[in-house]
Amino acid sequence: MLKIGGSVGSESDSALDAVVAMSDSGHPLVVVHGGGPLVGEWADRLGMQTSFVRGLRVTDEKTRDVALAVLGGLANGRVVATLIARGVPAVGLTGVDGGLLRAEREDADLGYVGRVTLVDSALLEELVDAGRVPVVAPAALDRQSGDILNVNGDSAAGAIAASLGARLLVFVTDVPGVRGKDGRVIARLDADRARSLVDDGTIEGGMLPKVEACLMAAAAGCRAAIVAPSGIDEVERLLAGEQVGTVFEAAA
Ligand SMILES: Nc1ncnc2c1ncn2[C@@H]1O[C@H](COP(=O)(O)OP(=O)(O)OP(=O)(O)O)[C@@H](O)[C@H]1O
Ligand SMILES: [Mg+2]
Repeated sequence: MLKIGGSVGSESDSALDAVVAMSDSGHPLVVVHGGGPLVGEWADRLGMQTSFVRGLRVTDEKTRDVALAVLGGLANGRVVATLIARGVPAVGLTGVDGGLLRAEREDADLGYVGRVTLVDSALLEELVDAGRVPVVAPAALDRQSGDILNVNGDSAAGAIAASLGARLLVFVTDVPGVRGKDGRVIARLDADRARSLVDDGTIEGGMLPKVEACLMAAAAGCRAAIVAPSGIDEVERLLAGEQVGTVFEAAA
């Protein structure tokens, strides 16, 4: 299970190297992508204001529509197109498809944004069993109202990995791991140390939902890691139990 972020969908995106390498080596694989910068770019083009609270986008109805169009359309299509061109049997979908992700509204301040409460991974399992590589854009259905909600890609990836019983969850992002107070990457994080780094503000912004998703996945028995797209063998090394970036060990 891979979550790719940052400059999603640009053809030179080296985060996709990890996807290609994993797929080529025959590992069953699900990809979740973000695309915050691309949503921001389109919101700007449309003259809309975007604001963030605790690393999460504040989403009015129009912003939700733009996020869905950009993530589920443009970003997803670009990732799938690049992967197909590189020989990966990718299939794009959003968290709405097949009822994959159900969510509850997070809080009134955040608008059309949800917290994932239920994963139905049946469609993903069918695709993976058929040899496909599902590429999921973050979006979910509100369990009460049936509205489409924006969900954080990191949280979606963590919930899907736990539901699938994935062996490994890897966040490929624009930093080489979680940095401590001294600015150096922390090789191994456990829940206690992660919480204290969150409490003192060392872990903030876009890193918060990643660390939370890693802790959740680790509690569900999944090895989780946060890495930069540094080379094509990082996922293989993680699968082999080696240390890359910041690793959260699965709870026994
Ligand atoms: N302690 C920390 N260590 C490392 N990075 C941190 C830390 N705290 C906050 N960050 C920030 O988290 C960012 C990574 O999250 P970000 O949401 O920007 O990327 P992404 O999730 O990969 O992309 P997207 O949101 O588009 O999917 C880093 O660029 C960094 O600025
Ligand atoms: Mg992010």
